[in-house]
Amino acid sequence: MREINIGLLGFGTVGTGVVRILEQNAEDIQTRTHGKLSVKKILVRNISAPRQMSGNFQLTDIPDEILHDDEIEIVVEAMGGIEPAKTYILEALRNGKNVVTANKDLLALHGQELFEAAKEAGKDLYFEASVAGGIPIIAALKQSLSANRISAIIGIINGTTNYILSAMTDQGRKYEEVLTEAQKLGYAEANPSSDVDGIDAARKLAILSSLAFNSRVTLPDVFVEGISKITPEDIKYAGELGCIIKLLAIAKQQNEGIEVRVHPAMLPKSHPLASVTGVFNAIYVVGDAVGETMFYGRGAGSLPTGSAVVADIIQVARNIESQSTASLNCTCYRKVEIKSPDEFKTAFYVRLLVKDEPRVLATLALLFAETNISFASIIQKPRGSQEAEIVLVTHPCQEVQMKEALDSVKAYSKVLNIQNVIRFEQEQ
Ligand code: NAP
Ligand code: HSE
Repeated sequence: MREINIGLLGFGTVGTGVVRILEQNAEDIQTRTHGKLSVKKILVRNISAPRQMSGNFQLTDIPDEILHDDEIEIVVEAMGGIEPAKTYILEALRNGKNVVTANKDLLALHGQELFEAAKEAGKDLYFEASVAGGIPIIAALKQSLSANRISAIIGIINGTTNYILSAMTDQGRKYEEVLTEAQKLGYAEANPSSDVDGIDAARKLAILSSLAFNSRVTLPDVFVEGISKITPEDIKYAGELGCIIKLLAIAKQQNEGIEVRVHPAMLPKSHPLASVTGVFNAIYVVGDAVGETMFYGRGAGSLPTGSAVVADIIQVARNIESQSTASLNCTCYRKVEIKSPDEFKTAFYVRLLVKDEPRVLATLALLFAETNISFASIIQKPRGSQEAEIVLVTHPCQEVQMKEALDSVKAYSKVLNIQNVIRFEQEQ
């Protein structure tokens, strides 16, 4: 029986999951690939650190022992970060190895260069685990939905923020308190910035959009806003408006181009994504032939992410066997314009603290009317004897109109504070 050797770069959360799955399902995997998949060597930073697992592999801290090992046909990159991961992947491809990676940071910035290197080498570069852990969304967009013109992708693709917003919604708790709890439970990192500021979701959205629209989208193309300004009050008002607040990763294709954005959004409770709670992820995809689809599951963790990496390894092994590597790498065959944030068109929730006096509401209506924004509904609640909180829900308008209106509102002396502004995501 043919043996295919694997070199693993990284033996942390994902790396150990990969080794565990290859071991525990070895017999089935062998039958499915008509060959034996063996992890020969694993690269780590600290070779003397205690490890969760041992096995028939060699640990090394010398990258060339993997990158220049002629017996290794598949290199799995599960280290993370930009460098040295990028250099190692390029080196592996140049040395005739196929590559599987879970690295969204790298793909969202340097995908094009990596895919060109894979093409040049005639080798596979697979990356299912880079978005939404165990959910098979990359293969779905690359293959299963390739007959469609995709009009929209709306994803909950960051488990940490979904956990925080779910706990705030269910328990009425404050952002800071739930974040601290998430850190204690290991859901949020000590430095939670890339999750809570929306960057992690933006990286994943760049990868998904490139696949869905066949046009390269990189991290700087994505408009990003995080969840740190969301308060229990906003969540309560969302409930009154029949909505739930979620951090959404949204990519839409219209005739004028594509828009790619990550931000908290008021989502109608009836939307299929509204019921995705806790650390779970889901991606809602609309195609012209298939209609609405939704993919749901665990977006992180050792075995769920390992599941996606091992599936890629199996596919690469099949490709090696059938001598068809590099047949499905880069799918970005065109260049579509990416819309500027000013052109985004959504309905808005605007929560204001104002003086409770005659003509304040009328003046606000005038200030919004000056930029042609019309209200869909208004909620007003007293705050003490002389102040009131007003929630304005607008009809859809362009971001640039809203910016202009908010500048005037800020300058209006009866407005004590703009408490929050949140976009709506309407039903399709
Ligand atoms: P991790 O637990 O921090 O593990 C990283 C591993 O890489 C460690 O074994 C580390 O060695 C090794 N490493 C890091 N830098 C190295 C270097 N310069 N030279 C040699 N070895 C190095 O990371 P992870 O959570 O498994 O994540 C790996 C990748 O998967 C990242 O790209 C991440 O974004 C992606 N991903 C992770 C998840 C998840 O649930 N964790 C989900 C989806 C995608 P030591 O053990 O010696 O420190
Ligand atoms: N930090 C990510 C999340 C998991 O919270 O979803 C790894 O992609």
